[in-house]
Amino acid sequence: MIYDFDQVCDRTKTDCLKWDMVQSIFGHDDLIPMWVADMDFPVAQPIIDALKKRAEHPFYGYTKPGKSVIDSVIERMWRKFKWKIKPEWVVFTPGVVPALNVAIRSLTHPGDEVILQEPAYHPFFPAVTNSGCQIINNGLKLTNGCYEMDYDDLERKFQPKTGRLRGPGRVKTIVFCNPHNPVGRLWKREEIIRMGEIAIQNGAVVISDEIHCEILFDGYQHTPFASISKEFEQNCIICMAPSKTFNLAGLDVSSIIIPNRKLREDFISMQSGIVPSPTLFGYTAMETAYRYGDEWLEQILDYLQGNLDFLLEYLEKKIPDIKVIKPQGTYLIWLDCRELGMDKLVLSSFMLDKAKVGLEDGFIFGEAGSGFMRMNIGCPRSILKEALIRIESAVNSL
Ligand SMILES: Cc1ncc(COP(=O)(O)O)c(C=O)c1O
Repeated sequence: MIYDFDQVCDRTKTDCLKWDMVQSIFGHDDLIPMWVADMDFPVAQPIIDALKKRAEHPFYGYTKPGKSVIDSVIERMWRKFKWKIKPEWVVFTPGVVPALNVAIRSLTHPGDEVILQEPAYHPFFPAVTNSGCQIINNGLKLTNGCYEMDYDDLERKFQPKTGRLRGPGRVKTIVFCNPHNPVGRLWKREEIIRMGEIAIQNGAVVISDEIHCEILFDGYQHTPFASISKEFEQNCIICMAPSKTFNLAGLDVSSIIIPNRKLREDFISMQSGIVPSPTLFGYTAMETAYRYGDEWLEQILDYLQGNLDFLLEYLEKKIPDIKVIKPQGTYLIWLDCRELGMDKLVLSSFMLDKAKVGLEDGFIFGEAGSGFMRMNIGCPRSILKEALIRIESAVNSL
């Protein structure tokens, strides 16, 4: 089936966070919303058909994922990444963010330290602090328009510091994001190995958020952290989900893959009674997406590549003061607006009040994001074009 992603669909009046909450979130109702991470494209037809079919069976009682659901995750990990996983490793949660919160709590005690790599996906911050832990920032380095990990700094973060309460062994985990939201880096195998070895040598478990791992631009291939080696496999909690790939965020389903038995048991016991399982519609959508969604996915990836190329050309030609940090994955584009010379709050209100586009402020991803904005290009090209025209005319009016 050929999908028409140029078609603009009205998502308003559907309790849609992205479109219906524009007024309450941004204080304007005439903005183009390009913030929260879902796409303005209808989902794959097989998913719609499967949900309708399931809805027709009028029993929506307690649910438990059967073998076929679990197999769909196992088969996908193998087919996409040549990563062989076992059924008992898979734990389902109604989202990656709740899983991150559970994972951090299961690995730490209040007062422990957790490493984030800023700019970092903003829900990572409360996940650490609400667990009573302290954030240690191993900030990414921006070199020649590309973000890199700072391994020397990472090693230093594990060293005990005299004169401070911090001692050896207080960093319990690193929250790693691959592909990285917001900067769009897909970490290479050798980069993952270098970071993972430092974590292992220092007794820290890696929580690897790989939710964006199937939204990759041309030529890139994802490496799950756990697929590197047995040692890596035993030292991580991997967060996967079909929600970004197949645009299913409202169905609340993700699979958390934990090969290490002790880590898994601790995770499950921390989750128990607090974080519910996904809904039966979530399971139906996930299995269908993993088994029958690839025709749609291939077309979406082509379309997103087209959007990225359009954006790159438009900014280079018409708004050269805004630079794109060229993403390797995700449909979230990290825009370097520092050449506009605005303070972070001025930049924020410039995009809202003058340009009338609802982007994410870079500073919500940490201080390193000041001067940047995050733009979601998961929309029909005509909407992207309209947003760029608005930004261009706002910049020209300066
Ligand atoms: C890196 C990352 N992790 C997690 C999430 C959200 O996960 P969920 O909706 O499954 O809680 C997002 C959504 O944008 C994300 O970008």
